[in-house]
Formats: sequence, structure tokens, C-alpha cells
Amino acid sequence: MASTAGVESSVFVGKEDDLIQSKRKTAVVHGRHVVVIYHEGEFYAMDMHCYHAGGPLHLGDIEEINGKLCIVCPWHKYKITLAEGEGLYQSINPRAPKSTAKWCSKGVKQRTHCVHVRNGDVYVTLSDLSAGIDSDYYQSEEYRQTLKKA
Ligand code: FES
Repeated sequence: MASTAGVESSVFVGKEDDLIQSKRKTAVVHGRHVVVIYHEGEFYAMDMHCYHAGGPLHLGDIEEINGKLCIVCPWHKYKITLAEGEGLYQSINPRAPKSTAKWCSKGVKQRTHCVHVRNGDVYVTLSDLSAGIDSDYYQSEEYRQTLKKA
């Protein structure tokens, strides 16, 4: 389990106007790499490395899937909802191959964080880290060590 000491405080990540213009920004919040996204009037924040294999979500396209806004990982095209970090996949019934594929949820796979704006400044507060989520691995020291060896 990750240490949660001192990580509950919000961290300034940029000016609201700049983020609205750039639409994306990466930041380090209490040692965690996050991407802050501005899309259609809302701010979102999530772990920057995709839960599947560490792909760069800050470079992903945004698509609406099944009524939910998703970031599409540029590496293997996994779809992750911006608001909840849910992994989405398409399922077909193998016994009815002519039926149309249905979007389903794998549950929350990518850790999302809280964004708030105060006096034109944007802050990120990390979510509760006490229970593990798949994307946590790509924030770990173990993962960073594997990158150094590669
Ligand atoms: Fe993101 Fe594989 S690393 S889909």
C-alpha cells in the first residue's frame, strides 16, 4: 500500500486561462505524475501513465463513448472515462456473432484526482490512495526502476 502521509493537500498546477488555452498539462503532484485536461468547460485530472502498460495519456484523443467522455490511450487504444477512470471495452456475445458489440465497464482502472479553481488558479488534490487502483503501479518506485534499466 502506498504511503498517504501529507498527500491530501492541494497543489497549484497552473493558471486557469493558460490551462483553458492549452487544454492539457502534465504536473507532478506530491511525486505523482498527473495530466490535467480541460474539455468542454470542465477540468479533469488523472494519473498520466495508462493502467494497461504505462502509455502517455496526455497524448491521447478524447472521444465520447456510450455517453461518457473518454481519453483514448495512444499506445493500444484503451478507452478510459475522464470523470471516473473506468476502463471501457466492447463485448460481443460469441453465441450471437451477428449481434452488435456492447460497451462494458472493467471498473475503475485509472486513478482520477480532484481539480478545483480558486481565483484563477488551478489546483489538484490527489484522490484517497489507501486502496490500490491498477494505474498506481506506473507511479511506483518499482516501475521507475524498470525504466532506468531499460
Ligand atoms: Fe495504454 Fe496499452 S498502454 S492502452
